Amino acid sequence: MTLADEVVASFAGAASPRFASLMTSLVRHLHAFIDEVGLTEAEWAAAIDFLTRTGQQCDDRRQEFILLSDVLGASMAVINANHPTGGAATESTVLGPFFVPDAPSFGPGEDISAGAPGTPCHVSGTVRTPSGEAVAGAEIDVWQSDETGHYDVQYPDLDHPRARARLRTDADGAYAFWSVRPEAYPIPHDGPVGELLTAAGRSPMRPAHIHFKIAAPGYHTLTTHIFMAGGEHLDSDAVFGVKDSLITTFAGDRATFDFTLAEAPPTP
Ligand code: BEZ
Ligand code: FE
Repeated sequence: MTLADEVVASFAGAASPRFASLMTSLVRHLHAFIDEVGLTEAEWAAAIDFLTRTGQQCDDRRQEFILLSDVLGASMAVINANHPTGGAATESTVLGPFFVPDAPSFGPGEDISAGAPGTPCHVSGTVRTPSGEAVAGAEIDVWQSDETGHYDVQYPDLDHPRARARLRTDADGAYAFWSVRPEAYPIPHDGPVGELLTAAGRSPMRPAHIHFKIAAPGYHTLTTHIFMAGGEHLDSDAVFGVKDSLITTFAGDRATFDFTLAEAPPTP
């Protein structure tokens, strides 16, 4: 019996079979990794120190572990495994740390920028079912960076939301709003995740995008972005969130994007 076998056996009495299965696989991969690379004690200590500091960086406003998951591609791997599109539905991507619940509501065509600096930009489109029917009354959260590459929540003295809104689709499944053109920006890189990127010679930049979270009864909630075609960093997103199907042209002061929601099976 190997050491890995012994550790795996120690989980055999777990009440939850799923927990036992997750721990079995984790232990097998962890031991195989240690053997494969011949992990030194100094490397083990450095890893413990890194993870400790990652935890110490977390508080109510910052989640360094999710950021670590993002830059390792783990967040996108989990999203891809849990949101198959079946070819029809719009692809999903990362939520990111800048989503805020209960954003202010706006009516069709209103300006959500609320003073965010940038070039005005009109964004519109539809929300549809996989068979192309309009989804009326879908609830859409939108949030984005301004022309300086910052979200409203990154301004310490700002006391109101900017370039952030809650919208609803009309009877034709249409949505529309004015905002500003989003700009590329670096993910937070002043902590352990930034150190990891520096050690790897990697950039912290994300390409310009607008976040959408779209919910409607009977459909899976869609968390995604639209990316600005031709922008910088599309091929080197720090969190591996770009999907070709989400890249769209921002022509002049206009962008359009039609979303398709995946049907959710009725809950028993
Ligand atoms: C974002 O797009 O807001 C984001 C996503 C992952 C990490 C950091 C930022
Ligand atoms: Fe973002």
